[in-house]
Amino acid sequence: MSLFTRKYLWRYSKLSSISKAFSTADTVKIPFLTGLSLEFHTIWLRHHCPCENCFNPKTFQKMVIPSKLPDLSVIKDVETNSSLNSVQITWMDDHKSTFDMNWLQKVNTKWLKIPENYFLKEDDDQYKYNFTNIHPFPSDPLQNAVNYDDFMSSDHSLAELLGNIVKHGFGIVQNAPPDFNSTKEVVLRISHPQNTIYGDFSQWTSNLAHADTAYTSEYVHLHTDTSYFSEPMGLQMFHCLKHEGTGGMNSLVDGFAIVKKFHENFPGEHSLLKKVFIPSQFLDVGKHHFYTADVTFKYSLLTRSIERFRYNPHDMATLDTIPFNLIAPFYTSLVRLSDEVESSPVWVKLSPGVVIFLDNWRVLHGRSEFTGFRHLCGAYIGRSDWLSKARVLGVVK
Ligand SMILES: [Fe+2]
Ligand SMILES: [Zn+2]
Repeated sequence: MSLFTRKYLWRYSKLSSISKAFSTADTVKIPFLTGLSLEFHTIWLRHHCPCENCFNPKTFQKMVIPSKLPDLSVIKDVETNSSLNSVQITWMDDHKSTFDMNWLQKVNTKWLKIPENYFLKEDDDQYKYNFTNIHPFPSDPLQNAVNYDDFMSSDHSLAELLGNIVKHGFGIVQNAPPDFNSTKEVVLRISHPQNTIYGDFSQWTSNLAHADTAYTSEYVHLHTDTSYFSEPMGLQMFHCLKHEGTGGMNSLVDGFAIVKKFHENFPGEHSLLKKVFIPSQFLDVGKHHFYTADVTFKYSLLTRSIERFRYNPHDMATLDTIPFNLIAPFYTSLVRLSDEVESSPVWVKLSPGVVIFLDNWRVLHGRSEFTGFRHLCGAYIGRSDWLSKARVLGVVK
C-alpha cells in the first residue's frame, strides 16, 4: 500500500470506531471497522505506559528505564473499550496500562510523516573511528583530585584539573570551603557560568523546586543533563554543602568507553544509536517546554572521534521519531545501552568540600536515594568556555 493510500485511508478511519484489539508475537494490533488497523510494538507500549508509576505526573518523566522493559513487556490480556475510546493492556505481572486512542492515533500520524530517507543512504559504517581520546576510568574518582588552595592560586593546578576532565571526563577540587560563595569562586577560575532556567549559580534541597527527579530524594538513574537542549550543557559542577542523613551516593559512567564497546562488540546497535533520533523533553506546564530529538552517539565528521553522548532515560519524550520498521531493532539497541550504562558505574560520595566537574558531553551521572536534609549547589559552564580555558593553558592543543 502506498504512503498516499495509507494516509487517505487513515484519515477516513479516524471517523470509524475500533473493533477488538489483539496481540501478535511482538505487537498489538487495533483494527478499525474500515479494515485498516493500527499496530504498535509491545515493548514500545510498555515503555509508554501512562500510569503514575511509569510516568511521573509532576515531572512528566519516564520512570522505567529501558533495561527493565523486556521482562515487563509480556502481555496477559488486551481489552478494547469503544465507549472510552481506549485500549487497556494487562501485563504478565498484572500491571495495567490504558492507552487513549486519540493519543495513539496522533503517534501514528507522526510516524507516517517520517521521511522515507530518514537514514543516509551512504553506509558510513565503513569509516574507521578514532578512540584514542579514551582512557581507563579511575576506580576511585577522588584519586585525581586537586587541592582547593592550589587550585585557587596556581594556573598549574587549574591546568591539572582541566587535564583530568579532558582525559577522564571529570575533575575534582578537594578541601573547598562548603559554602555557596566559595564554590562560585571555584567555578569562576574556569569560566563564567552559563545561565539557564536553573539560574547561573543555583542551590537546592530536595524540595522539587524544578519539575525534575534531581530535585527529589528518589533514585536517579544514570544520564547526561539537558538532553532536551539543542546544545546540552558542556560542564556540570556539583558541590554537596551539607547532608544530614544516609545514601545520596553519586554514580559515574564514561559514556565514550561505552561507545567504544558498542563499536567493537555490537556493530548493529552502534549503528542505530548513532543514527536514530531520540526525542527528549523538559516540561514545566505554562513555564517551559524544551524539546530536542537527536542521536545518542554523535561523532565528529572531521576527526572521526566520538564527540557527544546524549542520553537521559527519564527525559525521553514520546518515541514517535523512529520509523515503524526500526522500532524492534532500536529497542534491542536501547535496552543493551541501558544494560551497559547501569552495569558498570563508579560510585563516589560527594561530601562537603568536594567540588566535582563533569564533562556532560561524555560522562553520565546518577544518584542513589537518600534520607535527611541535603543541600547542594551547582552550575553549568558552556563547552566553548571551558575548552577555551583549556586551550589557553595548553591542555588542549
Ligand atoms: Fe543530572
Ligand atoms: Zn505503568
